[in-house]
Amino acid sequence: MRRYLYSDMQNLASLPTQAFDVVVVGSGIAGLYAALNLDSDLKVAILTKSELKDSNSWQAQGGIAAVLTDEDCFQLHFEDTVTAGAGLCKEEAVRVLVEEGPENIHILEDWEVPFDYNESGRLILGREGGHRLRRIAHCDGDATGRETTKRLGEIVMTRENITPFFRHQMTDIVTDEKGVCGVVVYDEKSRAWSYFASRHVILATGGIGQLYTHTTNPRGAVGDGMAAAFRAGAKPENMEMVQFHPTTLMSGEMEGRLFLISEAVRGEGAILRNGRGENFMQGKHPMADLAPRDIVTRNILKELRRTGEDRAWLDCSNMTREFFFRRFPNISAQCQKMGIELTSDFIPIHPAQHYFMGGVATDLFGETSVPGLFACGEVSCTGVHGANRLASNSMLECLVFGRRCAISINRLAKESASPTPPAVSGETAFLKPSPEEKRSDRMKLRKALSHAFGAVRKTEQMQYGLETITALAEKYDRVVCEDPSTVEMCNMTVVALEIAKAAVARKESIGSHYVED
Ligand code: SIN
Repeated sequence: MRRYLYSDMQNLASLPTQAFDVVVVGSGIAGLYAALNLDSDLKVAILTKSELKDSNSWQAQGGIAAVLTDEDCFQLHFEDTVTAGAGLCKEEAVRVLVEEGPENIHILEDWEVPFDYNESGRLILGREGGHRLRRIAHCDGDATGRETTKRLGEIVMTRENITPFFRHQMTDIVTDEKGVCGVVVYDEKSRAWSYFASRHVILATGGIGQLYTHTTNPRGAVGDGMAAAFRAGAKPENMEMVQFHPTTLMSGEMEGRLFLISEAVRGEGAILRNGRGENFMQGKHPMADLAPRDIVTRNILKELRRTGEDRAWLDCSNMTREFFFRRFPNISAQCQKMGIELTSDFIPIHPAQHYFMGGVATDLFGETSVPGLFACGEVSCTGVHGANRLASNSMLECLVFGRRCAISINRLAKESASPTPPAVSGETAFLKPSPEEKRSDRMKLRKALSHAFGAVRKTEQMQYGLETITALAEKYDRVVCEDPSTVEMCNMTVVALEIAKAAVARKESIGSHYVED
Protein backbone atom coordinates (compact mmCIF):
# COMPACT_ATOMS: atom_id res chain seq x y z
CA MET A 1 0.00 0.00 0.00
CA ARG A 2 1.17 3.54 -0.76
CA ARG A 3 2.51 5.83 1.94
CA TYR A 4 0.88 9.27 2.34
CA LEU A 5 2.01 11.80 4.93
CA TYR A 6 -1.53 13.07 5.51
CA SER A 7 -2.89 10.51 7.92
CA ASP A 8 -6.60 10.52 7.08
CA MET A 9 -6.56 9.73 3.35
CA GLN A 10 -9.74 7.61 3.57
CA ASN A 11 -11.58 10.82 4.49
CA LEU A 12 -9.93 13.10 1.92
CA ALA A 13 -13.38 14.13 0.67
CA SER A 14 -14.10 15.79 4.01
CA LEU A 15 -11.24 18.31 3.53
CA PRO A 16 -11.92 21.80 2.16
CA THR A 17 -11.27 21.65 -1.59
CA GLN A 18 -10.29 24.12 -4.31
CA ALA A 19 -9.92 23.26 -8.01
CA PHE A 20 -7.25 24.67 -10.37
CA ASP A 21 -6.16 23.95 -13.94
CA VAL A 22 -2.54 23.87 -12.80
CA VAL A 23 -0.88 23.73 -9.40
CA VAL A 24 2.74 24.90 -9.29
CA VAL A 25 4.62 23.82 -6.17
CA GLY A 26 7.57 26.09 -5.35
CA SER A 27 8.24 29.79 -5.82
CA GLY A 28 11.83 29.97 -7.04
CA ILE A 29 12.67 31.01 -10.59
CA ALA A 30 11.53 27.70 -12.13
CA GLY A 31 8.07 27.80 -10.50
CA LEU A 32 7.40 31.50 -11.10
CA TYR A 33 8.62 31.42 -14.70
CA ALA A 34 6.60 28.26 -15.47
CA ALA A 35 3.47 29.89 -13.99
CA LEU A 36 4.01 33.07 -16.03
CA ASN A 37 4.31 31.08 -19.25
CA LEU A 38 1.00 29.27 -18.75
CA ASP A 39 -1.92 30.54 -20.81
CA SER A 40 -3.77 33.34 -19.06
CA ASP A 41 -7.09 31.47 -19.30
CA LEU A 42 -5.75 28.75 -17.02
CA LYS A 43 -6.50 29.03 -13.33
CA VAL A 44 -3.16 28.56 -11.56
CA ALA A 45 -2.18 28.12 -7.90
CA ILE A 46 1.40 28.60 -6.70
CA LEU A 47 2.04 26.80 -3.42
CA THR A 48 5.10 27.70 -1.42
CA LYS A 49 5.96 26.50 2.05
CA SER A 50 7.64 29.77 2.98
CA GLU A 51 8.23 33.14 1.27
CA LEU A 52 9.84 34.19 -2.05
CA LYS A 53 13.18 35.01 -0.46
CA ASP A 54 13.54 31.57 1.14
CA SER A 55 14.40 29.77 -2.11
CA ASN A 56 17.75 28.64 -3.51
CA SER A 57 16.99 30.86 -6.52
CA TRP A 58 16.92 33.96 -4.33
CA GLN A 59 20.44 33.20 -3.04
CA ALA A 60 21.97 32.54 -6.48
CA GLN A 61 24.88 34.87 -7.07
CA GLY A 62 26.66 33.96 -10.30
CA GLY A 63 24.08 34.48 -13.01
CA ILE A 64 22.54 32.86 -16.07
CA ALA A 65 24.78 31.27 -18.70
CA ALA A 66 23.75 31.62 -22.37
CA VAL A 67 25.21 32.28 -25.79
CA LEU A 68 24.95 36.07 -25.98
CA THR A 69 27.91 37.28 -28.06
CA ASP A 70 29.25 36.76 -31.58
CA GLU A 71 32.44 35.10 -30.25
CA ASP A 72 30.33 32.42 -28.58
CA CYS A 73 28.21 29.70 -30.21
CA PHE A 74 25.87 26.88 -29.20
CA GLN A 75 28.53 24.26 -29.90
CA LEU A 76 30.96 25.85 -27.40
CA HIS A 77 28.32 26.11 -24.67
CA PHE A 78 27.25 22.53 -25.45
CA GLU A 79 30.84 21.26 -25.18
CA ASP A 80 31.54 23.09 -21.91
CA THR A 81 28.34 21.64 -20.44
CA VAL A 82 29.03 18.03 -21.42
CA THR A 83 32.70 18.27 -20.41
CA ALA A 84 31.72 19.47 -16.92
CA GLY A 85 29.02 16.74 -16.84
CA ALA A 86 31.78 14.11 -17.17
CA GLY A 87 30.09 12.11 -19.92
CA LEU A 88 26.73 11.60 -18.20
CA CYS A 89 24.73 14.45 -19.79
CA LYS A 90 21.78 13.69 -22.08
CA GLU A 91 22.99 15.37 -25.22
CA GLU A 92 19.54 16.13 -26.69
CA ALA A 93 18.58 17.87 -23.44
CA VAL A 94 21.81 19.89 -23.47
CA ARG A 95 21.07 20.98 -27.05
CA VAL A 96 17.64 22.20 -25.98
CA LEU A 97 19.20 24.01 -23.00
CA VAL A 98 21.84 25.91 -24.95
CA GLU A 99 19.75 26.60 -28.07
CA GLU A 100 16.77 28.01 -26.13
CA GLY A 101 18.98 29.95 -23.70
CA PRO A 102 19.22 33.30 -25.50
CA GLU A 103 15.48 33.61 -26.24
CA ASN A 104 14.67 33.09 -22.55
CA ILE A 105 17.19 35.75 -21.48
CA HIS A 106 15.53 38.10 -23.98
CA ILE A 107 12.12 37.35 -22.44
CA LEU A 108 13.53 38.31 -19.04
CA GLU A 109 14.94 41.50 -20.54
CA ASP A 110 11.50 42.30 -22.00
CA TRP A 111 10.03 41.69 -18.55
CA GLU A 112 12.50 44.23 -17.13
CA VAL A 113 14.65 41.93 -15.04
CA PRO A 114 17.43 44.40 -14.11
CA PHE A 115 20.49 42.81 -15.74
CA ASP A 116 23.83 44.63 -15.61
CA TYR A 117 24.59 46.52 -18.86
CA ASN A 118 27.66 48.46 -19.96
CA GLU A 119 27.61 52.04 -21.21
CA SER A 120 26.76 50.90 -24.75
CA GLY A 121 23.72 49.06 -23.47
CA ARG A 122 25.23 45.58 -23.85
CA LEU A 123 24.88 42.87 -21.22
CA ILE A 124 28.00 42.66 -19.03
CA LEU A 125 29.02 39.01 -19.02
CA GLY A 126 30.92 37.12 -16.33
CA ARG A 127 32.87 33.89 -16.44
CA GLU A 128 32.91 30.91 -14.05
CA GLY A 129 34.48 27.46 -13.69
CA GLY A 130 34.33 25.25 -16.78
CA HIS A 131 33.37 28.05 -19.19
CA ARG A 132 35.95 28.83 -21.86
CA LEU A 133 34.63 32.35 -22.28
CA ARG A 134 32.43 35.00 -20.74
CA ARG A 135 28.75 34.10 -21.15
CA ILE A 136 27.08 34.73 -17.78
CA ALA A 137 24.49 37.50 -17.54
CA HIS A 138 24.04 38.89 -14.03
CA CYS A 139 22.08 41.43 -11.96
CA ASP A 140 23.40 43.82 -9.32
CA GLY A 141 26.85 42.19 -9.71
CA ASP A 142 26.32 39.13 -7.58
CA ALA A 143 22.57 39.12 -6.84
CA THR A 144 21.08 37.62 -10.00
CA GLY A 145 18.81 35.20 -8.18
CA ARG A 146 17.40 37.81 -5.83
CA GLU A 147 16.70 40.35 -8.59
CA THR A 148 15.22 37.82 -11.01
CA THR A 149 12.99 36.17 -8.39
CA LYS A 150 11.83 39.57 -7.14
CA ARG A 151 10.86 40.76 -10.61
CA LEU A 152 9.10 37.51 -11.56
CA GLY A 153 7.27 37.65 -8.21
CA GLU A 154 6.09 41.19 -8.95
CA ILE A 155 4.72 40.12 -12.33
CA VAL A 156 2.95 37.11 -10.79
CA MET A 157 1.14 39.48 -8.41
CA THR A 158 -0.31 41.35 -11.42
CA ARG A 159 -1.72 38.21 -13.09
CA GLU A 160 -5.36 37.65 -12.34
CA ASN A 161 -5.25 33.95 -13.23
CA ILE A 162 -2.46 33.14 -10.72
CA THR A 163 -3.01 32.87 -6.95
CA PRO A 164 0.02 32.42 -4.70
CA PHE A 165 -0.43 30.56 -1.41
CA PHE A 166 2.44 31.35 0.95
CA ARG A 167 3.26 29.12 3.95
CA HIS A 168 1.33 26.27 2.32
CA GLN A 169 3.23 22.99 2.28
CA MET A 170 2.30 20.32 -0.26
CA THR A 171 2.59 16.97 1.49
CA ASP A 172 1.15 14.44 -0.95
CA ILE A 173 0.48 14.07 -4.66
CA VAL A 174 -2.79 12.24 -5.26
CA THR A 175 -3.28 10.09 -8.35
CA ASP A 176 -6.11 8.13 -9.91
CA GLU A 177 -6.23 5.81 -12.94
CA LYS A 178 -5.55 8.74 -15.32
CA GLY A 179 -2.57 10.20 -13.43
CA VAL A 180 -2.33 13.23 -11.17
CA CYS A 181 -5.64 14.51 -9.79
CA GLY A 182 -4.58 16.78 -6.93
CA VAL A 183 -2.36 17.52 -3.96
CA VAL A 184 -2.82 17.54 -0.19
CA VAL A 185 -1.72 20.78 1.44
CA TYR A 186 -0.96 21.91 4.99
CA ASP A 187 -1.52 25.61 5.75
CA GLU A 188 1.04 26.54 8.38
CA LYS A 189 -0.80 29.68 9.53
CA SER A 190 -4.22 28.15 10.16
CA ARG A 191 -2.70 24.69 10.87
CA ALA A 192 -5.36 23.21 8.60
CA TRP A 193 -5.20 20.63 5.80
CA SER A 194 -6.92 21.02 2.44
CA TYR A 195 -7.13 19.42 -1.01
CA PHE A 196 -6.20 21.23 -4.25
CA ALA A 197 -7.69 19.36 -7.20
CA SER A 198 -5.78 19.61 -10.49
CA ARG A 199 -4.91 17.41 -13.47
CA HIS A 200 -1.56 19.22 -13.88
CA VAL A 201 1.03 19.71 -11.16
CA ILE A 202 4.40 21.35 -11.81
CA LEU A 203 6.97 20.56 -9.13
CA ALA A 204 9.56 23.30 -8.72
CA THR A 205 10.50 22.67 -5.12
CA GLY A 206 14.28 23.06 -5.46
CA GLY A 207 17.14 21.20 -3.88
CA ILE A 208 18.17 19.04 -0.95
CA GLY A 209 21.12 20.89 0.63
CA GLN A 210 19.80 20.67 4.19
CA LEU A 211 20.32 16.93 4.08
CA TYR A 212 24.01 17.80 4.52
CA THR A 213 25.66 19.36 7.55
CA HIS A 214 27.36 22.10 5.51
CA THR A 215 25.43 23.67 2.66
CA THR A 216 24.75 26.95 0.89
CA ASN A 217 21.04 26.04 0.65
CA PRO A 218 18.35 27.67 2.81
CA ARG A 219 16.57 25.82 5.63
CA GLY A 220 13.66 24.70 3.47
CA ALA A 221 15.81 22.81 0.94
CA VAL A 222 15.04 19.29 2.16
CA GLY A 223 13.71 17.67 -1.01
CA ASP A 224 10.00 17.58 -0.10
CA GLY A 225 8.73 17.80 -3.67
CA MET A 226 11.09 15.06 -4.74
CA ALA A 227 10.00 12.75 -1.91
CA ALA A 228 6.29 13.34 -2.65
CA ALA A 229 6.92 12.56 -6.33
CA PHE A 230 8.73 9.32 -5.51
CA ARG A 231 5.89 8.26 -3.20
CA ALA A 232 3.51 8.91 -6.10
CA GLY A 233 5.56 6.60 -8.33
CA ALA A 234 7.77 9.07 -10.25
CA LYS A 235 11.18 7.74 -11.26
CA PRO A 236 14.38 9.01 -9.62
CA GLU A 237 17.49 9.61 -11.76
CA ASN A 238 21.18 10.32 -11.06
CA MET A 239 20.43 10.51 -7.33
CA GLU A 240 24.09 9.94 -6.40
CA MET A 241 25.15 13.20 -8.10
CA VAL A 242 25.56 15.86 -5.40
CA GLN A 243 27.54 18.99 -6.18
CA PHE A 244 29.89 20.68 -3.70
CA HIS A 245 30.83 24.31 -4.31
CA PRO A 246 34.56 24.90 -3.84
CA THR A 247 34.35 28.29 -2.16
CA THR A 248 31.95 28.99 0.70
CA LEU A 249 32.96 31.52 3.29
CA MET A 250 34.55 29.81 6.30
CA SER A 251 32.56 30.47 9.52
CA GLY A 252 30.03 32.46 7.58
CA GLU A 253 26.99 30.42 8.57
CA MET A 254 23.73 32.35 8.76
CA GLU A 255 20.27 30.90 9.26
CA GLY A 256 21.60 27.38 8.79
CA ARG A 257 23.43 27.98 5.52
CA LEU A 258 26.92 29.00 4.47
CA PHE A 259 27.61 32.17 2.55
CA LEU A 260 28.84 31.60 -1.00
CA ILE A 261 31.85 33.25 -2.58
CA SER A 262 30.78 33.07 -6.22
CA GLU A 263 32.93 31.36 -8.80
CA ALA A 264 32.61 34.61 -10.72
CA VAL A 265 35.26 35.95 -8.30
CA ARG A 266 37.73 33.45 -9.77
CA GLY A 267 36.25 34.35 -13.17
CA GLU A 268 37.60 37.86 -12.57
CA GLY A 269 41.06 36.45 -11.82
CA ALA A 270 41.12 35.58 -8.09
CA ILE A 271 43.17 32.48 -7.27
CA LEU A 272 43.15 29.77 -4.63
CA ARG A 273 46.08 29.48 -2.23
CA ASN A 274 47.03 27.20 0.66
CA GLY A 275 48.18 28.48 4.04
CA ARG A 276 51.73 28.94 2.68
CA GLY A 277 50.45 31.12 -0.11
CA GLU A 278 50.94 28.51 -2.87
CA ASN A 279 48.48 28.44 -5.79
CA PHE A 280 47.83 24.70 -5.64
CA MET A 281 45.44 24.53 -8.67
CA GLN A 282 48.34 25.26 -11.04
CA GLY A 283 49.20 22.10 -12.96
CA LYS A 284 46.14 20.21 -11.65
CA HIS A 285 43.94 20.96 -14.68
CA PRO A 286 44.43 22.94 -17.91
CA MET A 287 41.87 25.50 -16.63
CA ALA A 288 43.58 25.65 -13.18
CA ASP A 289 41.41 27.72 -10.78
CA LEU A 290 38.60 27.76 -13.33
CA ALA A 291 38.39 24.00 -13.80
CA PRO A 292 34.91 22.46 -13.44
CA ARG A 293 33.54 22.72 -9.91
CA ASP A 294 33.92 19.07 -8.83
CA ILE A 295 37.58 19.06 -9.82
CA VAL A 296 38.39 22.27 -7.90
CA THR A 297 36.48 20.99 -4.83
CA ARG A 298 38.40 17.71 -4.74
CA ASN A 299 41.72 19.46 -5.16
CA ILE A 300 40.96 21.80 -2.26
CA LEU A 301 40.02 18.86 -0.03
CA LYS A 302 43.13 16.96 -1.10
CA GLU A 303 45.32 19.98 -0.38
CA LEU A 304 43.75 20.44 3.08
CA ARG A 305 44.38 16.79 3.84
CA ARG A 306 47.99 17.13 2.69
CA THR A 307 48.70 20.27 4.72
CA GLY A 308 46.50 19.46 7.73
CA GLU A 309 44.85 22.88 7.41
CA ASP A 310 41.11 23.48 7.86
CA ARG A 311 40.66 26.13 5.15
CA ALA A 312 42.02 27.38 1.85
CA TRP A 313 42.26 31.00 0.77
CA LEU A 314 40.99 33.08 -2.09
CA ASP A 315 43.46 35.73 -3.16
CA CYS A 316 41.63 38.64 -4.87
CA SER A 317 44.60 41.00 -4.94
CA ASN A 318 44.51 41.12 -8.76
CA MET A 319 41.43 43.40 -8.45
CA THR A 320 41.23 46.92 -7.12
CA ARG A 321 39.04 47.48 -4.10
CA GLU A 322 36.80 49.73 -6.14
CA PHE A 323 36.31 47.12 -8.88
CA PHE A 324 35.59 44.37 -6.35
CA PHE A 325 32.97 46.44 -4.52
CA ARG A 326 31.23 47.36 -7.78
CA ARG A 327 31.34 43.87 -9.28
CA PHE A 328 30.50 41.95 -6.07
CA PRO A 329 28.54 44.28 -3.77
CA ASN A 330 26.93 41.53 -1.69
CA ILE A 331 30.07 39.47 -1.23
CA SER A 332 31.91 42.69 -0.29
CA ALA A 333 29.28 43.53 2.32
CA GLN A 334 29.43 40.07 3.87
CA CYS A 335 33.25 40.05 3.98
CA GLN A 336 33.26 43.53 5.52
CA LYS A 337 30.84 42.32 8.20
CA MET A 338 33.40 39.66 9.07
CA GLY A 339 36.26 42.11 9.14
CA ILE A 340 37.92 40.81 5.97
CA GLU A 341 39.76 43.53 4.08
CA LEU A 342 39.19 42.64 0.45
CA THR A 343 42.12 42.55 -1.94
CA SER A 344 44.71 42.67 0.85
CA ASP A 345 43.50 39.90 3.21
CA PHE A 346 42.74 36.55 1.64
CA ILE A 347 39.18 35.22 1.97
CA PRO A 348 39.02 31.97 4.01
CA ILE A 349 37.00 29.33 2.18
CA HIS A 350 35.96 25.68 2.36
CA PRO A 351 33.85 23.50 0.02
CA ALA A 352 30.22 22.75 0.98
CA GLN A 353 27.16 21.11 -0.56
CA HIS A 354 25.58 23.46 -3.09
CA TYR A 355 23.49 21.75 -5.77
CA PHE A 356 21.81 18.48 -6.69
CA MET A 357 22.10 17.13 -10.23
CA GLY A 358 19.78 14.16 -9.57
CA GLY A 359 16.05 14.32 -9.06
CA VAL A 360 12.74 13.36 -10.61
CA ALA A 361 13.38 12.05 -14.13
CA THR A 362 11.65 14.08 -16.84
CA ASP A 363 11.37 14.12 -20.61
CA LEU A 364 12.31 17.13 -22.74
CA PHE A 365 9.05 18.87 -21.79
CA GLY A 366 9.44 18.34 -18.07
CA GLU A 367 6.88 15.53 -17.78
CA THR A 368 7.68 12.80 -15.29
CA SER A 369 6.73 9.14 -15.48
CA VAL A 370 3.40 10.01 -13.73
CA PRO A 371 0.92 11.49 -16.26
CA GLY A 372 0.15 15.13 -15.46
CA LEU A 373 3.11 15.50 -13.08
CA PHE A 374 5.79 17.87 -14.37
CA ALA A 375 9.06 18.96 -12.75
CA CYS A 376 11.53 21.75 -13.48
CA GLY A 377 14.56 23.30 -11.84
CA GLU A 378 16.65 21.56 -9.21
CA VAL A 379 13.96 19.04 -8.20
CA SER A 380 14.04 17.60 -11.72
CA CYS A 381 16.60 15.55 -13.57
CA THR A 382 16.30 16.61 -17.20
CA GLY A 383 19.74 15.15 -17.90
CA VAL A 384 21.41 18.47 -18.75
CA HIS A 385 23.85 18.42 -15.84
CA GLY A 386 25.06 14.82 -16.01
CA ALA A 387 27.54 14.04 -13.21
CA ASN A 388 28.49 17.66 -12.48
CA ARG A 389 26.66 20.87 -13.35
CA LEU A 390 28.41 23.61 -15.28
CA ALA A 391 28.31 26.88 -13.32
CA SER A 392 25.29 29.13 -13.95
CA ASN A 393 23.51 26.51 -16.06
CA SER A 394 20.99 25.96 -13.26
CA MET A 395 18.99 29.18 -13.58
CA LEU A 396 19.13 28.64 -17.33
CA GLU A 397 17.61 25.19 -16.84
CA CYS A 398 14.87 26.72 -14.64
CA LEU A 399 13.93 29.07 -17.48
CA VAL A 400 14.21 26.73 -20.47
CA PHE A 401 12.47 23.73 -18.88
CA GLY A 402 10.06 25.80 -16.76
CA ARG A 403 8.77 27.34 -19.99
CA ARG A 404 8.70 23.94 -21.70
CA CYS A 405 6.50 22.53 -18.89
CA ALA A 406 4.12 25.46 -19.47
CA ILE A 407 4.14 25.05 -23.26
CA SER A 408 3.34 21.37 -22.88
CA ILE A 409 0.44 22.02 -20.48
CA ASN A 410 -0.88 24.85 -22.69
CA ARG A 411 -1.08 22.35 -25.56
CA LEU A 412 -2.82 19.60 -23.59
CA ALA A 413 -6.57 19.22 -23.59
CA LYS A 414 -7.72 21.47 -20.77
CA GLU A 415 -9.32 18.77 -18.74
CA SER A 416 -10.45 19.84 -15.28
CA ALA A 417 -9.94 17.61 -12.32
CA SER A 418 -12.99 16.63 -10.34
CA PRO A 419 -13.03 18.72 -7.18
CA THR A 420 -14.03 15.57 -5.34
CA PRO A 421 -10.94 13.65 -4.31
CA PRO A 422 -10.82 9.95 -5.16
CA ALA A 423 -11.19 7.30 -2.49
CA VAL A 424 -7.67 6.53 -1.35
CA SER A 425 -6.23 4.35 1.36
CA GLY A 426 -2.73 4.72 2.66
CA GLU A 427 -0.45 2.80 4.98
CA THR A 428 -1.26 3.37 8.61
CA ALA A 429 1.47 5.23 10.49
CA PHE A 430 1.59 4.84 14.27
CA LEU A 431 4.99 5.98 15.61
CA LYS A 432 5.18 9.31 17.43
CA PRO A 433 8.82 10.07 18.31
CA SER A 434 9.42 12.87 20.82
CA PRO A 435 10.73 16.25 19.56
CA GLU A 436 14.19 15.42 21.03
CA GLU A 437 14.24 12.05 19.25
CA LYS A 438 13.31 13.72 15.95
CA ARG A 439 16.04 16.34 16.38
CA SER A 440 18.61 13.68 17.12
CA ASP A 441 17.46 11.53 14.15
CA ARG A 442 17.72 14.56 11.86
CA MET A 443 21.28 15.15 13.00
CA LYS A 444 22.13 11.47 12.58
CA LEU A 445 20.73 11.49 9.03
CA ARG A 446 22.67 14.62 8.03
CA LYS A 447 25.89 13.25 9.51
CA ALA A 448 25.51 9.86 7.82
CA LEU A 449 24.91 11.46 4.44
CA SER A 450 27.72 14.02 4.80
CA HIS A 451 30.22 11.42 5.96
CA ALA A 452 29.49 8.68 3.44
CA PHE A 453 28.11 10.55 0.40
CA GLY A 454 30.18 13.73 0.31
CA ALA A 455 32.57 15.09 -2.32
CA VAL A 456 35.01 12.19 -1.82
CA ARG A 457 33.50 8.76 -1.14
CA LYS A 458 34.80 5.37 0.02
CA THR A 459 33.13 2.03 -0.67
CA GLU A 460 33.04 0.83 2.93
CA GLN A 461 31.77 4.14 4.30
CA MET A 462 29.00 4.19 1.69
CA GLN A 463 27.89 0.72 2.79
CA TYR A 464 27.70 1.80 6.47
CA GLY A 465 25.97 5.03 5.46
CA LEU A 466 23.36 3.09 3.50
CA GLU A 467 22.62 0.90 6.54
CA THR A 468 22.14 3.88 8.88
CA ILE A 469 19.94 5.71 6.39
CA THR A 470 17.86 2.59 5.61
CA ALA A 471 17.09 2.15 9.32
CA LEU A 472 15.99 5.78 9.63
CA ALA A 473 13.90 5.59 6.44
CA GLU A 474 12.14 2.46 7.69
CA LYS A 475 11.38 4.15 11.00
CA TYR A 476 10.02 7.38 9.42
CA ASP A 477 7.91 5.37 7.01
CA ARG A 478 5.79 4.59 10.07
CA VAL A 479 5.87 8.01 11.72
CA VAL A 480 2.66 10.05 12.04
CA CYS A 481 3.08 13.50 10.41
CA GLU A 482 1.20 16.16 12.34
CA ASP A 483 3.48 19.16 11.85
CA PRO A 484 5.79 20.60 9.15
CA SER A 485 9.04 19.49 10.79
CA THR A 486 7.93 15.85 10.91
CA VAL A 487 6.77 16.11 7.30
CA GLU A 488 10.26 17.40 6.42
CA MET A 489 12.01 14.64 8.32
CA CYS A 490 9.96 11.94 6.56
CA ASN A 491 10.79 13.52 3.22
CA MET A 492 14.48 13.82 4.08
CA THR A 493 14.73 10.09 4.82
CA VAL A 494 13.07 9.23 1.47
CA VAL A 495 15.53 11.37 -0.52
CA ALA A 496 18.57 10.35 1.53
CA LEU A 497 17.78 6.70 0.94
CA GLU A 498 17.55 7.24 -2.83
CA ILE A 499 20.94 9.03 -2.78
CA ALA A 500 22.57 6.28 -0.75
CA LYS A 501 21.11 3.45 -2.84
CA ALA A 502 22.10 5.10 -6.12
CA ALA A 503 25.65 5.81 -4.90
CA VAL A 504 26.20 2.26 -3.69
CA ALA A 505 24.75 0.87 -6.93
CA ARG A 506 27.00 2.92 -9.24
CA LYS A 507 30.18 0.95 -9.70
CA GLU A 508 32.21 3.60 -11.49
CA SER A 509 33.74 6.79 -10.14
CA ILE A 510 32.41 9.61 -12.29
CA GLY A 511 32.07 13.38 -11.90
CA SER A 512 30.69 14.33 -8.50
CA HIS A 513 30.31 10.63 -7.59
CA TYR A 514 34.01 10.38 -6.85
CA VAL A 515 34.95 7.12 -5.17
CA GLU A 516 38.50 7.22 -3.89
CA ASP A 517 39.07 3.47 -3.58
C1 SIN B 1 28.39 30.81 -8.07
O1 SIN B 1 28.07 31.98 -8.19
O2 SIN B 1 29.54 30.42 -7.92
C2 SIN B 1 27.32 29.78 -8.08
C3 SIN B 1 26.57 29.82 -9.32
C4 SIN B 1 26.02 28.48 -9.62
O3 SIN B 1 25.78 27.70 -8.70
O4 SIN B 1 25.88 28.18 -10.79
